[in-house]
Amino acid sequence: MKVIQIKEIRGYDNKGVTLNGWVANKRSGKSLVFVTLRDGSGYIQAVFDQGVIGEEEFQKAESLTLESSVSVSGKIVKDERQIGGYEMQVIKLEIYQIAEEYPIAKKEHGVEFLIDNRHLWLRSKRQWAVMRVRNNIIYAIHRFFQDRGFTQMDAPIFTGNAVEGTSTLFETDYFGEPAYLSQSGQLYGEAMAMSLGKIYTFGPTFRAEKSKTRRHLTEFWMIEPEMAFCDNEKNMDLIEEFLQFVVTTAVEESKEELEILERDTTILKNINKTFPRVTYDEAVEILMGKKEVNGKTTLNTLHEDLETIEEDIRKNEQSIQENEERLKKSGVKKREQNQIQNSIEKLKAENKDLEEQKINIPQWIESAENFKYGSDFGGSDETVITRLFDTPIMVYNWPKEIKAFYMKRDEKNNGLVKGVDVLAPEGFGEIVGGGERETDLEFLKEQINIHKLPMKAFEWYLDLRRYGSVPHSGFGLGLERLVGWICKLPHLRESIPFPRMYGRLFP
Ligand code: 4AD
Ligand code: MG
Repeated sequence: MKVIQIKEIRGYDNKGVTLNGWVANKRSGKSLVFVTLRDGSGYIQAVFDQGVIGEEEFQKAESLTLESSVSVSGKIVKDERQIGGYEMQVIKLEIYQIAEEYPIAKKEHGVEFLIDNRHLWLRSKRQWAVMRVRNNIIYAIHRFFQDRGFTQMDAPIFTGNAVEGTSTLFETDYFGEPAYLSQSGQLYGEAMAMSLGKIYTFGPTFRAEKSKTRRHLTEFWMIEPEMAFCDNEKNMDLIEEFLQFVVTTAVEESKEELEILERDTTILKNINKTFPRVTYDEAVEILMGKKEVNGKTTLNTLHEDLETIEEDIRKNEQSIQENEERLKKSGVKKREQNQIQNSIEKLKAENKDLEEQKINIPQWIESAENFKYGSDFGGSDETVITRLFDTPIMVYNWPKEIKAFYMKRDEKNNGLVKGVDVLAPEGFGEIVGGGERETDLEFLKEQINIHKLPMKAFEWYLDLRRYGSVPHSGFGLGLERLVGWICKLPHLRESIPFPRMYGRLFP
């Protein structure tokens, strides 16, 4: 019989085919065994009927354990009630391997245990869905740039100089010389843009961030376009167009996956509205509750949110209690019991989330009220600012002290530089950082000294200002931050196949 993938079953209604895959779930009845089969392309229910396949094959089916690898042959039949709309009536079963007792089958595993078993966790339906969304995002990113005449170029990973400050460098021994794992391909991107005009890099970048937050990885993938003859205004236009295309396309092409993730995509569909552009000064005023956005201030909103949260927690607690009483009643069928148990678990998880917010909000309020003009926004500050918006926002014109050495000064105010950060809504914070690059040779040399960077390592970079220097700009998108936002993940560790974070190198 023809071997096909589950995603192709639509074209094989009422036909016989063979599928290779793994047992994702199994239920047994008296003379029937139901297996949910997964093959990486999708899921399908395979039905083993003793009357059809005979005693010996049926026993083989009964012996299947979770994650056993199999080949099943049979007829594809339409069944609207099943996942994917079809099921297979099996006539033949071949077993590759009967899996040992699967270690991560239980629902109640904590996330630390799951991440220790990341090599197996990747097989779960949620993780499968996230990885497919990630792939769709990557594909959309390449399409966007390729369709607009950008050339993809690769920056080196071993580098001799810092880009984004010296505090997050990973040092390695390069034949007796220190070399650093790249924090960003940007400086090389600038050199490449002076050759090809419009380029983008897409590669791994490294930051020795000793912080255990849900937004930080030590190894992450960055997409960095760089454009010659481009100022920060045009740069911001491109960022907006880019995010609109990538989010719209990836959401459109990931419908099934986002449903599995139970992602409400309403806010993602707002992406095609114009992104508000606010200066750093305005963002500080918004943060501190001194400036209204659509008739609201951050501080009022936070106080209101706190009340709503407390109310929601009370409501959920009541529902949990009611459900628990229903469970105690006699005569509740097994199926219904499971449903009730599931809703109890869901409500409990929801409340855990709400309790966390209840603790966080007063801290956010305090940190917002005490914010010092001129300092960088922390994760919670970004969350507070973006709470008033339902699209990403762009914050530009930053104090030069908190930005990198290469940023171009603002002509109107020498204390500011033409950097831009894009902050995503729903508490996801900065997803893009970029700006216009300084072109003045003497000023750059001064900045290199002020930032205590070794001049010698930057000579090649300074050459770009000696030979045909032009206004140029670019930005960097953190791939995992975007995956995290689109999928609404609680932590970036789920956004990449094998996350590298402070305190984690395995598996
Ligand atoms: O803002 P960053 O540091 O900017 C740069 O590296 C520039 N050289 C980019 C450029 O203009 N070409 O980093 C860019 C983005 C951030 O906005 C964030 O999305 C992501 O990279 N990022 C991280 N993602 C995960 N874990 C970390 N530790 C990250 N640090 C930055
Ligand atoms: Mg940044």
